[in-house]
Amino acid sequence: EEVSTRDKPLSALPDIPLFSDLPRDAFIEFFEGCPLRHFPKGHRVFERGSRGNAFYIICEGAVRVFRDEGKDLAALGIGAFFGEMALLSGAPRMATVESTSAETLLLEVPASVLAQLSRRYPQVARALKKFCRDRLLTNVMS
Ligand code: CMP
Repeated sequence: EEVSTRDKPLSALPDIPLFSDLPRDAFIEFFEGCPLRHFPKGHRVFERGSRGNAFYIICEGAVRVFRDEGKDLAALGIGAFFGEMALLSGAPRMATVESTSAETLLLEVPASVLAQLSRRYPQVARALKKFCRDRLLTNVMS
């Protein structure tokens, strides 16, 4: 189920630690027109091994990240993001992401929009790379 951003103003977005260095308006304008997707519990946003073409910010609800059923890599909640790795590396999705909340609302940011935002705000590009490295390291060590 898809809800357009016009139905839910972007001013209703949660605080997003990734963008804490930026004024709110600076990133909000990039997200104008990005779809908000509403998922029930247990919906697979994407599967490990698939091609990545978008990045997601959790506006409501929560997701789990896993490579193998029964062993989650992470649980992510409001204000967190996922899907950056495939976009930064060009590799397939390294894990499956599934909603764990009955009301999960995700802002879907196309790869092209994230690339523009990263070019305009190098600190966002740096922060994304740092998250990516930390997450990769966590996964290697787990
Ligand atoms: P991507 O590989 O595109 O798709 C799966 C996503 O899961 C990945 O990007 C990250 O955004 C996310 N992810 C993978 N490992 C972790 C982790 N250890 N903690 C949080 N998120 C993760």
